[in-house]
Formats: sequence, C-alpha cells, structure tokens
Amino acid sequence: MKSILNNRPALKAALDEVAEVAGYLWQKGWAERNGGNLTLNITEFIDDEIKAMPAISGVLPIGVTLPNLKGCYFYCKGTGKRMRDLARDPMAAGSVVRILDDCASYEIIADLPVMPTSELPSHLSLQDYMLGCGCGYKATLHTHPIELVAMSHSKEYLDSERLTQILWSMIPETLAFAPLGIGVVPYALPSSVELADATLEQIKRYDVVLWEKHGTVAVGPDMMEAFDQTDVLNKAANIFMTAKNFGFTAEGMTPESVQEIRTVFNLPTHR
Ligand code: 13P
Ligand code: ZN
Repeated sequence: MKSILNNRPALKAALDEVAEVAGYLWQKGWAERNGGNLTLNITEFIDDEIKAMPAISGVLPIGVTLPNLKGCYFYCKGTGKRMRDLARDPMAAGSVVRILDDCASYEIIADLPVMPTSELPSHLSLQDYMLGCGCGYKATLHTHPIELVAMSHSKEYLDSERLTQILWSMIPETLAFAPLGIGVVPYALPSSVELADATLEQIKRYDVVLWEKHGTVAVGPDMMEAFDQTDVLNKAANIFMTAKNFGFTAEGMTPESVQEIRTVFNLPTHR
C-alpha cells in the first residue's frame, strides 16, 4: 500500500520507535482498549513532496490557538484506536496532520483519514509549549499506569510536592531520572480544554503530570524518553504499593539521602 513512510527511512524509524513504545504500554497493562494516546512532531522529516500532499479530511478545529505550531506536522494516535494495534501498524491506528496557518485548525494528510485522539488539545498545547521553549522535545505521551492512577484516588497523594517526595524516596533512580518530579492536575473532563490548560501549567514545572483518577502525561525528546519518565515514576509507585501489600508503609530514603543524590549528580530543579 502507498504510505507516507515508503522511501523515508528516517520518518519510518521515528514511527517504529513510537510503535515499540505502544507495544510496551499494552504489555504493561496501561493501555486497555483505546486507552492512552500520543503525538510526535515529525516536521523535521517533511519534504516538498509531503508539503504538496492534499488534505484527505476537511479543515478541523484543534479547540485552542497555538501560534508556534503554524505549518508543523504531527503523527497522532487515532481516537478510539488501540495501542496494541498501533504497535503493529502505526499508520493504520493513527495519521499525519498538518497545522494550518490560523494555528487553530488542522487537516489530515496521510495515510488514511483516521481522526486524531480526543486528547488533541492537551497534546498540541504541550507541543506548542515545547517548540516555544526551544527544548527540542518532540513527543507527548498519555497513558493509564495502574499504580499512579490508583494513588490519585486518595486525597493523601493528590498534592504534587507530597507525592513527588514519596516517589523520589522509594529508590534512588527515581530522583536521578525524574528530577523535576510529578505534578497533579485535579480531575477534569477527558479531552477538555480545561484539562489541556491545567496540564500545560504543570508540565512547565514537573517531568510528568498525573491526571486525577485518569492517567499520566509525559513529554520528551523522543517517545522512548517520554515512556521512560512515566515508567520510572510508576515503578516507584509500584514499590510503595508492594510495601503496603506486605502490610507496612515503605520507610523511604531519608530526606538527607535524597538531597545527597541531587547534589552529587547535580540534578536540575527546573526546566
Ligand atoms: P482516544 O482513543 O481518543 O485517544 O482516547 C483515549 C484516552 O485515553 C482518553 O483520555
Ligand atoms: Zn486517557
């Protein structure tokens, strides 16, 4: 079949990595049915032939206006599509979209008119921020990691600073690989602009954002890094939960030990 990936090895490699991550999400039990979604900024791979490709959809509203995204191209998981299917065939479970000059609408250009994820406002708001800050990040990932979502059901853990301290203290690598921690967004309707706005504010300060009673959002230079950030924090939540299952509350590393790691490894405290 004719595909935008044909004869474009660099673009194909980027989407192969997205597919690999989608497989991990399914294997981890974080991607029931169509659960979770992702986008990848693929503008760097766009050639003149792609620029000339006609739309295969109408003009569709993003729901927000995002000035940095003018003329950018994104691979987006399709709404209602399964991660386990995306792992086998990303172009059947997602599509490539072009952001139009008004920065508030887009059109689908390849391969099939698969409608992008319902969480598009959140993903593209983050993409807009990442372009604006010049950090070079290209990937956004929303998933449903079991232990972190379970913790978000208790008021006790719905405080960003408190939750971050608990997770950092479970195992030294958590702080080393998620030095900005996790920010909590109070429950908001999935796919809403309210959720997108709150997520954007939190990602400016934290590595990963936890949506109360729903899931996480992570960003990264590529999809693997976004996955790793989520995985590192959820592993800490899993250790916390495992200790609870043993019948005790994990002691946690002391604040001095946590601080020592930050100092010795010279870890950043902000983006
Ligand atoms: P989509 O199928 O629209 O991507 O939605 C899945 C999801 O996790 C919504 O939060
Ligand atoms: Zn979700």
